[in-house]
Amino acid sequence: MCGIVGYIGERLAAPILLEGLRRLEYRGYDSAGIAVTSETLDVHKQVGRVKDLLAVVPEDLHGKAGIAHTRWATHGGVTVENAHPHIDAEGKIAVVHNGIIENATILRERLEDEGVVFRSETDTEVLSHLIAKCLKEQPDPVMALRAALRLVRGTWGIAVLFEDHPNTIIAARNGSPLVIGLGDGETFLASDPHALVPYTRRVVYLQDGEIALISASGVTTQLLDGDARDPVIETLEAEWAEAEKGDFPHFMLKEMHEQAQALRRCLSGRVVAEDGRANLGGLELSSREMVNIQRIGLLGCGTAHYACRVGATAIEQLARVPALAEVASEFRHRNPVIHPQSLYFAVSQSGETADTLGAVREVQIKGGQVRGVVNVVGSTIARECGSGVYIHSGPEMAVASTKAFSNMVAALYVFTLQLARARTLAPHEARAFAEELMMVPDLVESYLQQEVNVAPVVEWIQDCRSVLFLGRGLSAAVAAEGALKLMELAYVPCLSYPSGEMKHGPIALLEQGSPVIVIAPEDEVRDKTLSNLQECRARGARVALIHTEGDPIAKHADVSISVPRTSRWFTPFLTVLPLQLLAYQTALAMGRDIDRPRNLAKSVTVE
Ligand code: AGP
Ligand code: GLU
Repeated sequence: MCGIVGYIGERLAAPILLEGLRRLEYRGYDSAGIAVTSETLDVHKQVGRVKDLLAVVPEDLHGKAGIAHTRWATHGGVTVENAHPHIDAEGKIAVVHNGIIENATILRERLEDEGVVFRSETDTEVLSHLIAKCLKEQPDPVMALRAALRLVRGTWGIAVLFEDHPNTIIAARNGSPLVIGLGDGETFLASDPHALVPYTRRVVYLQDGEIALISASGVTTQLLDGDARDPVIETLEAEWAEAEKGDFPHFMLKEMHEQAQALRRCLSGRVVAEDGRANLGGLELSSREMVNIQRIGLLGCGTAHYACRVGATAIEQLARVPALAEVASEFRHRNPVIHPQSLYFAVSQSGETADTLGAVREVQIKGGQVRGVVNVVGSTIARECGSGVYIHSGPEMAVASTKAFSNMVAALYVFTLQLARARTLAPHEARAFAEELMMVPDLVESYLQQEVNVAPVVEWIQDCRSVLFLGRGLSAAVAAEGALKLMELAYVPCLSYPSGEMKHGPIALLEQGSPVIVIAPEDEVRDKTLSNLQECRARGARVALIHTEGDPIAKHADVSISVPRTSRWFTPFLTVLPLQLLAYQTALAMGRDIDRPRNLAKSVTVE
């Protein structure tokens, strides 16, 4: 999940590396470090953000080859010693790493028994000493790295710099993304294409099990067993154009307001409203194959999982095919039975989430069909699924997902329409669904243009102990997404429950003044949710209600926040908006770092 950047060429490496880290900082930002080679190997590291590293990097840091890293800690606290790069005992080898070395403990013990003195608590430092040990046995750095990696179990995206080989960077990938950018007389390396955008569009995506020997003139690749592999040069998608905040104070606010436009991009060319038709060509499924689908599984984490829950409800209710949203990190470990007529979707904004990737591989090992529903073009999940749907949100830079959630739901709704129409949905019903789906972006746009007053609820939350989010049916998933937003942005403990479930325990939490957020748009379960709302108020809770405009239900809440009227299917696109605003405004009021919340990273590429 961290950020890795490398450079080798005719220019000074340090400025390019530091700019690359800045562009990747959303991937993980506990600490940062840089290593460059000139006559010697120079390493500088600092706890905190890239700007804190800048303060300790000498202005005159020479060297035209270098690597750099922003860390999201998995082994060892956030300290300078644990920051990357990690060096060997002689300080001649520097390693940056994204991933987890699962057998680091035993390898560390063996190295310590041989007299190696470790400087850090990290798993990564094992690599630098292992490579140094193997280099003594074979002087070729690629061979030494290969030998070292054969001893290692786990996941890695690594870049290695050798003082004695200043004209090369060696990289290797197993489970954590790395992409090489090909310039003119210079070569770049990054864990995310976003860092390459200012320099080149010609890229080579390193594959699992590959090692890359990078020089100013280009790259050669080989497998761990030494077989050479011709690098496949691809063109970076235009979508990776510069993503900047523009006039917005935070990426999150910008991306919230981009939702209408992002939805239009996602739906464009995929829905023919007047015919009630939808077509996701990327799924590569004929109507006959569609009709033969017996079950649908939706795999995702966090916000993506909540989008899956919305999608699963719509698919089952409208297309009449059993659909189940599963937490990806649980799926692989329950040894799932994969029905031959099942279709799975791996839903992921980054396309690099290790838990979701693990679920994809589990489905494929068991002969199942899995398609990606992904934002980042060319990402690992998109590539390993082979086919699927890009959601076209555009780069989502804020750690807290907003426009990707809406577009994931939209993409799953397009599939729902396509499947339902191939099965039981009548033409006029399909037309009605399609026409309303195509109206959602305008509703979202006009809603976000108005002043939505969440201030009273922000006040409640400032000094509360926790917040309860309640909803039923489609709104249960929205409640969960609203709770996640408030937790990850404002660090406020939140619970979300299907509102009927609240009676079976969580109601014990309520006391005078407890804040409860209830999502109850006009749908088939509104009245039931109203009863749960009243049960909360009967126990002294303060209720903020997200409801359909004009609905008299508003009088039952302490604070009521209305959203435009839509039929039941489309309420999630609208009820999620005040929850995003509530999380944003609360985090702002509490002085949180909106785009870089503590402990988080944009793409969780470790399990
Ligand atoms: C959402 O706001 C969080 N940042 C997080 O839950 C995220 O949705 C999750 O890590 C999955 O990421 P993905 O969509 O890139 O797979
Ligand atoms: N496991 C390594 C560490 O804890 C790498 C973490 C990362 O991916 O940033 O330092």
